[in-house]
Amino acid sequence: MTTASRILCSSLQDRIMSAEQAAALVPSGVNVGMSGFTGSGYPKAVPAALAGLIAEAHQEGRKFRIGVWTGASTAPELDGALAKAEGVEMRLPYQSDPVCRQRINAGEMEYLDIHLSHVAQFVWFGFLGKLDIALVEVAGILEDGRLIPASSVGNNKTWLEQADKVILEVNSWHNPALEGMHDIYYGTSLPPHRKPIPLVRPQDRIGEPYLRCDPSKVIAVVETHSPDRNSPFSPPDENSRRIADNILDFLQHEVKKGRLPKELLPLQSGVGNIANAVMAGLNDGPFENLEAYTEVLQDGMLDMIRSGKLSFASATAFSLSDAGLREFNSNIDLYRDKILLRPQEISNHPEVIRRLGVIAMNGMIEADIYGNVNSTHVMGTSIMNGIGGSGDFARNAYLSIFMTPSQAKNGKISCIVPMASHIDHTEHDVQILVTEQGLADLRGLSPNQRAKVIIENCAHPDFRPALMDYHKRSFDSSFGRHTPHMLGEALSWHQHYLAGGSMHF
Ligand code: COA
Repeated sequence: MTTASRILCSSLQDRIMSAEQAAALVPSGVNVGMSGFTGSGYPKAVPAALAGLIAEAHQEGRKFRIGVWTGASTAPELDGALAKAEGVEMRLPYQSDPVCRQRINAGEMEYLDIHLSHVAQFVWFGFLGKLDIALVEVAGILEDGRLIPASSVGNNKTWLEQADKVILEVNSWHNPALEGMHDIYYGTSLPPHRKPIPLVRPQDRIGEPYLRCDPSKVIAVVETHSPDRNSPFSPPDENSRRIADNILDFLQHEVKKGRLPKELLPLQSGVGNIANAVMAGLNDGPFENLEAYTEVLQDGMLDMIRSGKLSFASATAFSLSDAGLREFNSNIDLYRDKILLRPQEISNHPEVIRRLGVIAMNGMIEADIYGNVNSTHVMGTSIMNGIGGSGDFARNAYLSIFMTPSQAKNGKISCIVPMASHIDHTEHDVQILVTEQGLADLRGLSPNQRAKVIIENCAHPDFRPALMDYHKRSFDSSFGRHTPHMLGEALSWHQHYLAGGSMHF
């Protein structure tokens, strides 16, 4: 299929223009809802052209900044380019770009890190201000103006509905066979008129394969042919393999106990190498007929579909390596019937996650001895990425698992600490902690019981004595013994690292 034949709507033909011309239609001060989720389906030409215009304006002494709203993380052509040009006033709801991160942590860019399932309704309710422009990458435009979504759905439905003006990037790089792999649900309504979401299995189709778009709102159509950011995964290292083994042993134990069916419950797997390694472990493991109700679909899940272990996956975005993408494209007939991409307000919806009984597995930066989890802030102050969907899943899952290597920075940092330096998931939302050392099942345990199990099972042996000592001395001297702490000392581990480069005492 040629690029031209992807724009079938005749009334949009006269709005086809270059990325530079389209970028010139975006004035300073607007909020732009852009497509894009974990490096998939983000606009690839207009943001870069806009960054050029912003840089020019700044050189001429004119301030030019916009609000950048997305599904989740994007890529250097979008986040990197706009952050580099100092063109972002407010970024939300998630990023993982090094330049963006540096600007945010330098206090030069505002960042609103919010639960991904909240974004759409925050926009519907008007909590985030006015959405002026939707800038959405699609795989094609139908005769009647409906859009064929690309490799992610994210918040595109909301952007297209809520924005006054729409700019479309039609990317002929996307496999045309993506058409039909999406399920866009238009049944959402606002309280008090909200109805149950009629989704009871991950494979249920409850919507339409296309995004609706009013052609009269479209101010520009830009044709592109550019790849997604398909980042490689590192092959599972020893730590990831041990984390995966610990999770597999635990799931088998739960099946034996009758607390999980033998085909488990729908899996959610977070971003990154460890999550990918856990999928590799499941692919080699004893479970059959698995299903996924997740946010991103990484290579590991593709492998499981190919091997037959995973019978269906529902997500909002692909996040594939180059090799994963090649595999997807060459066997797309196999994957087409086994994958659905949905808007993120549905893929991450608390109601659906709770109903399906999802097994949520997410990475973390650190956990404290009572089970509070920090997913976002290094040393309590410096943002890494954001909470993403981890909170949507952790709070509502049947089983909420957090995983990390027990140490970071070559053993200078313990990922199990007396008091988390920032908390994204409280002790009430964290059921299982896993490191390469072992697994702590926190269900039914009081804070002091949890501390013992977390230190013994998850902390690295080099840090265990100091953690036990902290807990004991806290119990002996704390103001209250329910969750004992020595508040003055609690965060000194982080201070030690910041001051001297190590958490060792
Ligand atoms: N203290 C300081 N730094 C730490 C740390 C700690 N306790 N633990 C990890 N880090 C650093 C690592 O050294 C690494 O730094 P580098 O990039 O400079 O090498 C970085 O954090 C990432 O760590 P890594 O071990 O590679 O973990 P990861 O790729 O598995 O990512 C999170 C872990 C927490 C950053 C990631 O899972 C995340 O962003 N989670 C929040 C969003 C989420 O869960 N989304 C999924 C929902 S569907």
